[in-house]
Amino acid sequence: MPKVRIIELDREIEIPSGQTILQGSMANGINFGFVCGGNAACGTCLVKIVEGLESLGARNPKEDFLAKAMMLEPEYRLGCQTEVSESPLVCSIVSLARERRS
Ligand code: FES
Repeated sequence: MPKVRIIELDREIEIPSGQTILQGSMANGINFGFVCGGNAACGTCLVKIVEGLESLGARNPKEDFLAKAMMLEPEYRLGCQTEVSESPLVCSIVSLARERRS
């Protein structure tokens, strides 16, 4: 099972391949924004992929639509839409990073 390191929590979790970053995080007790219920409409689940971006599939049409509207750089992905592959990831959960700065 691929390992995903969450920088803000200094924690490594395992997320089954094919599960989204949001689903896998919640299954591991890590809660972050998902105001729209995981429907690619709010952007509160935003994650910055620090390592492993190349292992992820392309944005699906729903994610792509919101990413364009938000003018997101490629390394920013929606946690509710981005499925983990077989490779490890290192990521920053944007809402947690913002909390730490405030
Ligand atoms: S939960 Fe709203 S865009 Fe992901």
